Amino acid sequence: MRFKIVAIGTGYVGSVTGACLADLGNEVVCVDNNADKIAAFKEGKVPIYEPGLEELTRRNQLEGRLTFSTDIAENVRDAQLAFICVGTPPKDDGEPDLSAVESVMREIAKSSIGNKLVVVEKSTVPVQTNVWLNDIVAGHDGLVEIASNPEFLREGSAVHDFMHPDRIVVGTESGYASALLLEVYKPLNALTLVTDVKSAELIKHASNAFLSMKISFANLVARVCEKTGADVEMVMAGVGADKRIGREFLNAGLGYGGFCFPKDLEAFIATLRKYGIDSGLLEQVRTINDSQRQRFVDKMTQSLGGVEGKVIGILGLAFKPNTDDMRYAPSIDIIKALQQRGAMIQAYDPKATANARALMPDVRYVDTPYAAAKGADCIAILTEWGEFSNLDLARIKEALKQPVIFDGRNVYNLERMSGLGVHYSSVGRREIKP
Ligand code: UGA
Repeated sequence: MRFKIVAIGTGYVGSVTGACLADLGNEVVCVDNNADKIAAFKEGKVPIYEPGLEELTRRNQLEGRLTFSTDIAENVRDAQLAFICVGTPPKDDGEPDLSAVESVMREIAKSSIGNKLVVVEKSTVPVQTNVWLNDIVAGHDGLVEIASNPEFLREGSAVHDFMHPDRIVVGTESGYASALLLEVYKPLNALTLVTDVKSAELIKHASNAFLSMKISFANLVARVCEKTGADVEMVMAGVGADKRIGREFLNAGLGYGGFCFPKDLEAFIATLRKYGIDSGLLEQVRTINDSQRQRFVDKMTQSLGGVEGKVIGILGLAFKPNTDDMRYAPSIDIIKALQQRGAMIQAYDPKATANARALMPDVRYVDTPYAAAKGADCIAILTEWGEFSNLDLARIKEALKQPVIFDGRNVYNLERMSGLGVHYSSVGRREIKP
């Protein structure tokens, strides 16, 4: 075994980080205060859908490198590193709620006395968080060193992203902590940036804000395309081919959702305000993102001549493909707005149905895309799951009451749709009429 590591918090970040660090040969204990979750993990059941994570967890459990516990104190006493991976959900004013980070830090500080421990902030926190974390530690024996090591994992490909990172950021003022973290990540053979703690904290918020900005920019350009007849896919291919810009995260659609971009943008806006810096640029990013969903609903309503009493088949509910995560999913706002206007919804998603049902019980959930189309006045694609690219569109057309497809994710190419005899309306591209 290389190091004893405790990963605290078993959400997406903690469960992936724990399993991957174990796979790199470390002895890892994943800790959570939710006893039910820990009991499930102990039986080899991963309570979230994340490709590859369950196999990785089971294998490392079987090989004795990965265990689960509800007890921080007992596990940090003889560990070399503790990764804080707890949630930082938004408060009403947009600032992140750091109470879980704080209580974990207090527990670590009092339980690790006499043990030289590196505490790693992996949870996304605002710049300067390390300052008060250090204050918490200061009252104890001074053997705890703090580092920031932000994560850049995308849900749906988190295991792959952990093992093949674009970069690893190690922010710390402590030579001991940076040496240890560099050693932990050595097997990944990745570009590693060693910075001060504040810069590392800021890299995370600045990265997510920038990616959100790229998406909103693409959605803004899509609006111009719709007014002028240009094609946003072609425009973004041309724009993104410039290496200084890059093609990724320029896909126009329904905007970003999930538990990272919306909350991190809010948190970064709150940071700018706190320091008296104009946050207008990022507020506009948010406004464009929010209105993108509304525009889609308006487009559907207008095109169908109102949705009152109409049946709408929804394909895709998760905030993005390859996850069952419904947090801040565009589908929630879109379905609620359509229901408010009197539509009846029948929906299909390959993985997110259970989570969606808990949030929207008044939707009829079905087991196939074809069942979602059956007898409906249109279908609307809200998540670009891979299986939707290969649908038998003739069968979808036959199942529909009228051949209308709204595509919020530009899944199909226009040539394919032209000969099909359907009304096909996507984002930032010309409409196809039957
Ligand atoms: C994001 C970042 O990509 C990760 O680097 C980061 O670690 C993570 O947040 C986090 O802070 O924990 P994630 O939210 O899992 O990861 O998903 P993304 O793949 O980034 O997608 C976010 C949203 O943007 C999705 O709703 C997606 O549909 C949307 N999106 C993405 C677009 O609308 N257009 C694009 O071109 C790309």
